[in-house]
Amino acid sequence: MKINNRGIQIISIPKIEERRGNLSVIENDTIPFDIKRVYYLYDIPTGSERGGHAHKDLRQFLVALSGSFDVVLNDGKEETIITLNKPYEGLLINSGIWRELQNFSSGSICLVVASEVYIEEDYIRDFDEFIKYVNRK
Ligand code: TYD
Repeated sequence: MKINNRGIQIISIPKIEERRGNLSVIENDTIPFDIKRVYYLYDIPTGSERGGHAHKDLRQFLVALSGSFDVVLNDGKEETIITLNKPYEGLLINSGIWRELQNFSSGSICLVVASEVYIEEDYIRDFDEFIKYVNRK
């Protein structure tokens, strides 16, 4: 699965660098969807894995606010692994992409900016069901 295709994209987040520290800002025009929800993963134990699902409609933008982690992505055909480790760069994951988050460094924080509110029915949590879903006609 190629980066910057329809499924996934790396997007730069504007950075304001100053001697007193850096500031990055995500606004509606930074990412290609309207922001409906923001959540974050933190206090992640070593060896822990998150994700393990796809979404039917939801689009998400992931940023490593601190530390680093790997995102394993699968579009039903190909797997791609992307390491996120910069607070001024994020990964757009469109709908219909299976994702697993792993190899969290100690103290890492994963920010998730989402296009929809939380709807459990939007999740596909079974990989075989995901494969059927992406191959549906
Ligand atoms: P889940 O999306 O499975 O976490 P991850 O993909 O990071 O592994 O969500 C974990 C739990 O948190 C699950 O019980 C649903 C709940 N949850 C909410 O209540 N609201 C939310 O916005 C999110 C993202 C999760």
